[in-house]
Amino acid sequence: MNPPSTILVTGGAGFIGSHACVELLDHGYELIVVDDYSNSSSQVFARVERIAGRFVGTVYELDIRDRHALAAVFDRHSVDAVVHFAALKAVGESTRMPVEYYDTNVGGTTTLLRAMHEHGVHHLVFSSSCSLYGDGDGGPLGEDAVVGPGSPYAASKWACEQILADVCRRVPGFTVMALRYFNPVGAHPSGLLGEEPRGTPDNLMPCLAQVAVGRRERLHVFGDDWDTPDGTAVRDYLHVMDTVEAHRIALEHLGDGPGMHVYNLGVGQGSSVLEVVAAFQEACGRPIPYDIAPRRPGDVRERVADATAVARDWGWRPRRNLAGMCRDAWRFQQLNPSGHAGSARQTNRKRVTSCG
Ligand code: NAD
Ligand code: WQD
Repeated sequence: MNPPSTILVTGGAGFIGSHACVELLDHGYELIVVDDYSNSSSQVFARVERIAGRFVGTVYELDIRDRHALAAVFDRHSVDAVVHFAALKAVGESTRMPVEYYDTNVGGTTTLLRAMHEHGVHHLVFSSSCSLYGDGDGGPLGEDAVVGPGSPYAASKWACEQILADVCRRVPGFTVMALRYFNPVGAHPSGLLGEEPRGTPDNLMPCLAQVAVGRRERLHVFGDDWDTPDGTAVRDYLHVMDTVEAHRIALEHLGDGPGMHVYNLGVGQGSSVLEVVAAFQEACGRPIPYDIAPRRPGDVRERVADATAVARDWGWRPRRNLAGMCRDAWRFQQLNPSGHAGSARQTNRKRVTSCG
């Protein structure tokens, strides 16, 4: 198969999805984007277009669980492959709203699969997550590491993977690249795109950015009594630009052979919370006040990827380091104190379509 040319991107207005749109537009793909803006804004597309210097394509505001609206998109467009980002992603929230998470993440994926199947589209790149691994035993986690989802969010991703693997076994030609991201952070180097959490952020990097810019007084470091060199928990932070580059490469490999292919996306190197704080201080040139708080429920000591499989099979290796991740996240925070929603509307382009 030639590399696919028309890609349906679900969740394309979100943090990783918007960066992926830029990456795919830069490489000549035609895009159809769907998003319900439950955790994003349509304003982001003006910025995607500004960076890419191209129209983003046709954008539909719809909920991927809306079977008829989704089918209508496949009726109207000849889609070669789907990159499926749309999901709810907050681990803590998922413990309070498990049904909503299963409905959106699992139900949304099966609704998408049905539409794909009915329209003869058999190529999918799926956003999976390192959170489906249990607590690592200290070493890097390979794709065959023990699975032990610790939250409804993680369980929803594992359920999706199992469904996708089964569909691949039963539908000839069905091909899935399931990418298990570790901790994607950072922002587009232009400062136009970045992570824009609604409400109080859960994740470390946006918290740091908000403390640095003065929106929050201090960072709470969740635990300094882990069995790690400085006592704080260790993660594998990966630049969002490296993350989306891997998606573009995944599309190029959809023709390698049918079936379910699972890859970790990570740097393969861990950083402690205090190491990230130090890197962020260096990037923003100001001290980050922090205190030591109790461990966060559900946290694990260390989660670092063994990302050798994707390097071996595709030659993909992350190119950006922690300093670059912090620099880009800080640039986005500084330039966008009120997020993408503050961007000017652009009027000379194909407008967002409502569907359903
Ligand atoms: P995000 O919330 O920024 O993006 C998700 C997008 O999907 C948003 O634009 C949201 O509005 C949209 N969406 C949600 N529910 C929808 C629905 N029912 N119908 C249509 N659109 C819907 O999140 P992100 O960080 O860009 O994550 C993208 C994907 O990557 C998700 O599947 C997430 O689970 C996965 N992932 C993220 C991380 C991370 O740390 N950011 C790590 C591992 C995996
Ligand atoms: C990183 C470290 C915190 C905030 C999450 C999801 C995972 C995946 C990636 C989606 C931890 C510590 C954090 C703060 C802190 N996402 N921390 N103070 O928990 O590794 O992974 O994002 O799939 O599923 O669970 O990322 O950024 O929340 O935390 O000390 O205010 O920073 O305890 O050790 P996490 P994170």
